[in-house]
This record gives sequence, C-alpha cells and structure tokens, in this order.
Amino acid sequence: MEKGTNTELIMGFLKDLPIFKGLPDRHLRHLSGDFIVRNVSKGETIFYQSDNSTDLYIVLEGTVRASLLNHDGEELILATFCKGNFFGEMSLLDGKPRSATMIAVDDSTLGILRREKFLLAVKNDPMIAIDLLSAIVQRMRMANGMIESLAFLDVSQRLVKLLLQIAKTEGYKDEDGFFRIKKLTHRELAAHTGASREAITKVMKVLAFREMVKEKGGYFLISPDAEDVYNE
Ligand code: CMP
Repeated sequence: MEKGTNTELIMGFLKDLPIFKGLPDRHLRHLSGDFIVRNVSKGETIFYQSDNSTDLYIVLEGTVRASLLNHDGEELILATFCKGNFFGEMSLLDGKPRSATMIAVDDSTLGILRREKFLLAVKNDPMIAIDLLSAIVQRMRMANGMIESLAFLDVSQRLVKLLLQIAKTEGYKDEDGFFRIKKLTHRELAAHTGASREAITKVMKVLAFREMVKEKGGYFLISPDAEDVYNE
C-alpha cells in the first residue's frame, strides 16, 4: 500500500477512536502519516508477554486477542480487540515489558505508532491523555468483571455466562427459543473462562445431559433456561 493511501486509511480510523477523534484534522493527518502498517496471519503472535517493544497498535482489519500463557501452553484470554480498537497502551505508557501476549484471531491488518511519536502527539494535544485514561478505566472495569467471575463463580457458571454473552451479542434465536452460536473447542472455552480443558469437558457433559447446551453441526444451541445455572 502507498504511504498516502495508508495515511488516508488510518486517518479514517483515528477519527472514530475516542482517544484521537478530538484532534484537529491537521494534527490527525500528521499523526496518521507516522503509523506503519503490518499484516499478520491467523494464529500469528504479534508480540509476546515480557517483550520490550513499546509501540501502540490499532486494528485496521481483523481481530486479535490479548492472552496470558503458562508453561504448559494453557491460555487465559484477557480481551479481544477488533476493527477500530487499540492495544499496547500499557507498555506505551510506562515503557515496561508487554503485559500479555497478542495473537491474531483472524488474518489482520494493524497500524503501529512508535512511542516517541505518540508522546509528541500528547505534548501537542494533551486531551489525548485524558481520553486514553478514560479508555483504560473502561478496561479496568472489564478486568474487575473477570476477577469477580474467577473469584465468585464456579466453572459451570463461568461457562454459561460466557455462552450467554456470546449468544446475546452474536447469536440468533431459533424458533424453539434456543440461541444458536458458532461452536468453540473445549480448549477455546477453557481459555475464555480461566478453567482447564478437562474441567470444561466435564461441565459440558453435565450441561448437555440437562439439555442446556446441545451441539449440532458447527453450532452450540444454548437453552434460555441455562441462566438457571447462575442461581444454583
Ligand atoms: P501492553 O502491556 O503494552 O501489551 C499487551 C496488551 O494487552 C496491553 O498493553 C493491553 O493493550 C492489553 N491488555 C493487557 N491486559 C489487559 C486486560 N486485563 N484487559 C484488556 N486489555 C489488556
């Protein structure tokens, strides 16, 4: 892609991002020109936890996830970022190593801004820092929600919470009231819920027996009664 084309493309994204959208067009154009574009393939690692890079990233196309991985290769997904989201703000701000490993969920295109360029932009437009703080606080609230689930819900409750969340955001309702969502592997469910794959397999068996979650082709069918698991 030509640099000019990149600048226009990135400017379009920055205009929609709460942290940059208040910038005058002149500053936005200048900042957009400082981004470089990187394509990553599905499953590719963008950077690892503890890496020393400090760039800011914006997802221009595709989806990526921030994960913690242990020595056995088990994964806990902290957050998923899609088109228009930014990530890498933690090392960008404190200059310390990356707090999580970032992996491409799909083939994706990323815009990358070097820390020095970002700091210069903040110097010129300090409101960027205020808006970034607000975005970080929002992420802290989400993280508190995750801590709450890990501390107070058991594996079946966490799993049902996840499935219902997916059902409500991207599922659709069949005639019999069941939500239909794209099937996930037990490993993926484990990574989303902070459980072991073995624990997920056990819970899925129980949920299937109680007809709360059924597998059909490439889909899960989630019963509206699955919410009952919360109240047990
Ligand atoms: P950084 O630490 O630079 O690199 C990993 C990135 O993952 C981090 O910046 C954030 O963008 C993102 N990240 C880490 N932890 C969380 C979390 N709990 N919630 C949302 N995003 C996170």
